[in-house]
Amino acid sequence: MPLTHTRDLFAKALKGKYALDAFNVNNMELLQAIVEACEEEKAPVMLQISRGARQYANPVYLKKLIEAAISLSNIPIAVHLDHGDTFQLCKECIDEGFTSVMIDASHLPFEKNAELCAQVVEYAHKHNCVVEGELGHLVGAQFDEGEEGGAYSAEGHYTHPEQAVDFVKKSGVDSLAVAIGNSHGAYKFKGEQHLDLDRLKAIKAALLEAGLGDYPLVLHGASSVPADLVKEINQFGGGMGTDTAGVPESDIEVARRVGCTKVNVDTDLRLAMTAAIRKVFAENPKEFDPRKYLGPARARVKELVRHKVRDVLHCAGHAFD
Ligand code: G3H
Ligand code: 13P
Ligand code: ZN
Repeated sequence: MPLTHTRDLFAKALKGKYALDAFNVNNMELLQAIVEACEEEKAPVMLQISRGARQYANPVYLKKLIEAAISLSNIPIAVHLDHGDTFQLCKECIDEGFTSVMIDASHLPFEKNAELCAQVVEYAHKHNCVVEGELGHLVGAQFDEGEEGGAYSAEGHYTHPEQAVDFVKKSGVDSLAVAIGNSHGAYKFKGEQHLDLDRLKAIKAALLEAGLGDYPLVLHGASSVPADLVKEINQFGGGMGTDTAGVPESDIEVARRVGCTKVNVDTDLRLAMTAAIRKVFAENPKEFDPRKYLGPARARVKELVRHKVRDVLHCAGHAFD
């Protein structure tokens, strides 16, 4: 099957009320694990490439690897630039045939962020590509306490519902990444914390009320940082802090139902890969054949992806809707 357009994946996900699984790809084993799991679960998938992934693996290698995955599978696959930070990088990816790009200018003031997004949107839309923007700061749940319950501060780190409407209208972005207590990496929260799901509902409602329809929202930093993986990493010689914690799967489930149409996961794949590799080395220190540790790592990532698409995002079974 050829590359499927992000636009089509979003339209189907919105209709089917499931969340699209957006997984980061950095090498062949990760790609194989993701695509094989999604193929077996009949899930559509978004493969995301970050600037760091392009620097690590080389854009041409990544492009060819993805072409191979597409030619060997039947599920719909879209290719997305994750956290593009400049117009130039977005343009390169659009020119290379990515079906969507993210321009992350969320560190800039509102107007500058909207302006840069609008510039990318103008180029992208002329070249059959769609754009994700981001409003708010992914600082985690320990910030913006006291903003819960509807008293949203326009100056806070989290996404403000009315500003989200204004931002989408000004920038023309096709989807919006929100800040609701989410953050990247393995150390999201101190202890168990939850996303500000009421705020997510308010953002979705504000967009609907403003005439923007069932507007697709994106959840970054959606890894759950499973305690058993962290434990396994540490058991086999790792030194991850004990304060690792991620987004509870039950929160992702609610976010999906409220209207997060794309859910980004990278850290959990890294943890699964690391746990499996550490286990091989700890149990067999003489091992030096990369296939003997990258193989189990790939299998562990595949198992995790299957769980995500089937039990958390509910995109399994929707590949051929
Ligand atoms: O949100 C960031 C992703 O996990 C990509 O991370 O920039 O280290 O490739 P990276
Ligand atoms: P995690 O670090 O929670 O996996 O988030 C990944 C992400 O948001 C990629 O854009
Ligand atoms: Zn992200």
